[in-house]
Amino acid sequence: MNSQFDRLDRELLASRALGLSRAQVIARPETPLSPRQLRSLDQLAERRRREPWAYIIGEKEFFGLRLAVSRNVLVPRPETEQLVELVIERAPQAGRVLDLGTGSGCIAIAVKVHRPDLRITATDVCAAALETARRNAQSHGADVEFQQSDWFSALSGRFDCIACNPPYIPESDPALIDLGAEPRIALTGGPGGLTDIDAVIEGSAAHLDVGGTLVLEHGRDQGEAVRRRFAECGFVSVETHRDLAGHPRISFGRLPGHPLNSPD
Ligand SMILES: C[S@@+](CC[C@H](N)C(=O)[O-])C[C@H]1O[C@@H](n2cnc3c(N)ncnc32)[C@H](O)[C@@H]1O
Repeated sequence: MNSQFDRLDRELLASRALGLSRAQVIARPETPLSPRQLRSLDQLAERRRREPWAYIIGEKEFFGLRLAVSRNVLVPRPETEQLVELVIERAPQAGRVLDLGTGSGCIAIAVKVHRPDLRITATDVCAAALETARRNAQSHGADVEFQQSDWFSALSGRFDCIACNPPYIPESDPALIDLGAEPRIALTGGPGGLTDIDAVIEGSAAHLDVGGTLVLEHGRDQGEAVRRRFAECGFVSVETHRDLAGHPRISFGRLPGHPLNSPD
């Protein structure tokens, strides 16, 4: 097999192609392969050059949960787990939470599993993504209301917390080449990358209740622009958290005033 794959990839590919556990592959590296097994290994290796593992095996672990993924959804990223932690910490007891652009449902489901008191609505513009998200919610027994919506267009009512990992990569960013297997609608945020971020921040100011919080993931170079936009839209206590690699990736802020069900 081609040396462009690292050791873990090689072991996983072999384990998948041969129907063996990874431990068995490691324990018997000299096992001769049949022509059929070799073909299967080649085919898988070819797919792996173009696709993330998660699409090949059809699942990804996120916040300790095993989630199904299809090519209609972004593969959930570890950075987004930090966004989930912030929502779990900040949403008021029995509050209403909105997960905008839910994709696989990862944010909504992880929050609901850890905060069953919350009432969660999750939306996406893509019907096929919502199908995957619904299936994931069902398999984790997470009671989440799913709705198809172009950002806020189909939503009524107000929320105590809005969480969103919007598409934010500029259309001409060369990084998109390596992400070619994932849905473009999940990745690109207009020419400068801020089109959807702007829509989400503006819309959130109109759909959050008094004292409500917006938690937003963004690109590592977008923190300053995002904080400015939060402030322009009336948010206070605006902060940006860094991811594990030290990049500023998640901003949050709240509308002034206290939520009605706040203990203080
Ligand atoms: C970066 S992905 C995030 C998916 C998931 N929340 C996650 O963190 O892995 C952005 C999601 O926003 C959805 N999306 C893109 N444009 C949208 C729009 N106008 N209205 C609602 N959802 C949209 C995409 O379909 C995609 O699922």
